[in-house]
Amino acid sequence: MACVVSVSSALAKPHILKSPDSNITVIVDGDKELNYSVKAADVELISPSRLGVVMRDRSMGNKVSTKYRSATFSDDWTQPWGENKHISCAYNELAVVQTSSAGEFITRFRAFDDGIAFRYEWDLKDKETIVIDDELTEFNLQSGSMTWSIPGSFESYEHEFRSLILDDVEDANTPFTLQTPQGIFASIHEAALYDYPEMTLCRTEADVLKAELAPLPDGVKAYVPSRFATPWRTVQIAADAVGLINSSMILNLNEPSKIADTSWIKPQKYVGIWWGMHLGTQTWTMGSRHGATTENAVKYIDFAAANNIQGVLFEGWNEGWENWGGNQHFDYSKPYDDFNMEYIAEYARNRGIELWAHNETGGNIPEYEAAMDSAFAYYHKLGIHTLKTGYAGGFKGGYYHHSQYGVQHYQRVVELAAKYGLMIDAHEPIKETGIRRTWPNMMTREGARGMEWNAWSAGNSADYLCILPFTRLLSGPMDYTPGIFDIDYSRAKADKGRLEWNGPNADCCIKTTLARQIANWVIIYSPLQMAADQIENYEGHPAFQFFRDFDADCDWSRALQGEIGKYIVVARRAGDKYFLGAGTNSEARTLEVSLDFLKPGVTYRADIYGDLPGSTNPEDLCVISKSVVSTDVLTVSMLPTGGQAVVFTQLE
Ligand code: NOJ
Ligand code: CA
Repeated sequence: MACVVSVSSALAKPHILKSPDSNITVIVDGDKELNYSVKAADVELISPSRLGVVMRDRSMGNKVSTKYRSATFSDDWTQPWGENKHISCAYNELAVVQTSSAGEFITRFRAFDDGIAFRYEWDLKDKETIVIDDELTEFNLQSGSMTWSIPGSFESYEHEFRSLILDDVEDANTPFTLQTPQGIFASIHEAALYDYPEMTLCRTEADVLKAELAPLPDGVKAYVPSRFATPWRTVQIAADAVGLINSSMILNLNEPSKIADTSWIKPQKYVGIWWGMHLGTQTWTMGSRHGATTENAVKYIDFAAANNIQGVLFEGWNEGWENWGGNQHFDYSKPYDDFNMEYIAEYARNRGIELWAHNETGGNIPEYEAAMDSAFAYYHKLGIHTLKTGYAGGFKGGYYHHSQYGVQHYQRVVELAAKYGLMIDAHEPIKETGIRRTWPNMMTREGARGMEWNAWSAGNSADYLCILPFTRLLSGPMDYTPGIFDIDYSRAKADKGRLEWNGPNADCCIKTTLARQIANWVIIYSPLQMAADQIENYEGHPAFQFFRDFDADCDWSRALQGEIGKYIVVARRAGDKYFLGAGTNSEARTLEVSLDFLKPGVTYRADIYGDLPGSTNPEDLCVISKSVVSTDVLTVSMLPTGGQAVVFTQLE
């Protein structure tokens, strides 16, 4: 580890900060009113842009003295799980320290080889709570840039992606990804979001996007202490689109783990009683189609044990689902009468399977917060280590999901869960900003349109799936819940007389080929990775061997090829095994993929799950095995909406 600090006077302006490889430059100018600009490879990426926050009835006064402190840092660190367990961190830092009789205000910049970040820190003498009315941060971008994002909603991330020319973006949420006319790729996001609202982006003038914080019901953006640091405002930068995916900058801007013993935190594959409720063939509530019954639970546990799957989720196990979507009152510790929790927990334990708990709150935060402690204690007693939470419904009291109130709530859950040895999978969450480094029990989250949208809407297109890795997934793991094998599920709905449930969704099908469903297990990283279909669709299916072989506890990852909205190829290693996932949009595509990521000198058996050439049935699959070495090139041929998944196993 190396850390060098130096201080310079305010006179030598503007101040220049360079990335360790000197490719990225941040220029900080102005004195009291600072601005910043960013160049990549000597080309302007961000033109001079405003900085600052608006504190109600506070100012630094007229007599402000400014000092510039430089530092350099490099270190390698490891994490208990992640796309990459070993991560290198190197950056140069410039802190602009403004001091007056009011106290100290610091604007701290960091330049990495894969992007830049800055945040505001203050330590004001008067210890009163500070009211944040606005954040002035701007991103003055390059006219004509192409952008990919979702709208700037404070309530939900479950929106279609838009591919828009910068001029057409009115507001957006982050990660906000762009390509400049000069061909540089960048993505604006945030890191280490605690005790503050999320940042969305809003156009103020031609090419300028300004930070727009999610407000509280009284219009205030945040109430914060007089000593505080905001989340980092981040801009990942790369020469090609996959370079954004291979960046670790968001994690590098978060603090090391606060959980000392992480031995209980383990990636898993899981199955569950889930898809049937979204299809309408099963119910969360008790009744003739109730999914979470003792009988079904035993079947799922047996299936998991027989198929190298570590976890099982049963939604609709607890009382209260009758009122969901209205005035919900869930009981987080009371199983339905036909779900024998004690028996099921013991049965799972005896078979070496992790039983999950599920807490849908419907947005009733006060009630959930009142019940959390005793519910988590109950799960702990039952030997449960994994909890899926859900917030499908407006928050009581008119709070936005992504406001400071929401951010604080989601964090309280993570910290209480850590106390009770629970890993979290949050649905309708706050966006991922890398806090998994500090709270490694915060495993995965939804935060985009997941698989469920295929059950009751027009669904997620293959084009959508080719934007996801370059936007939402840049922020961190996603519980997309991939792997539906029953692509044309109208038969399953018709069998149960439920064809018209959830509206006349005439399609009743998943919008990709089966090979792409398998590839998504590799492409969409999640340390808790679900095989989302009902187990009867996996039983006896030869392609399920892929999930049996798959390992969610990955050691290394690399996005190999990709163009935003067109295709993506990702490789991962877990132990001695490698996995490859490739996917295309609505166009057929053939890619040549070098296998140079494999260990040199080792022969591997490649089990390849691909689209069946010439077929028009998306459920057709072509599975072949062959020997390969690291000097080989794999030809990946994909049908429209198709994909390919490969397991590489070392041959003796
Ligand atoms: C929405 C979640 O995304 C989904 O996974 C869950 O089944 C439902 N809410 C019910 O909690
Ligand atoms: Ca959802």
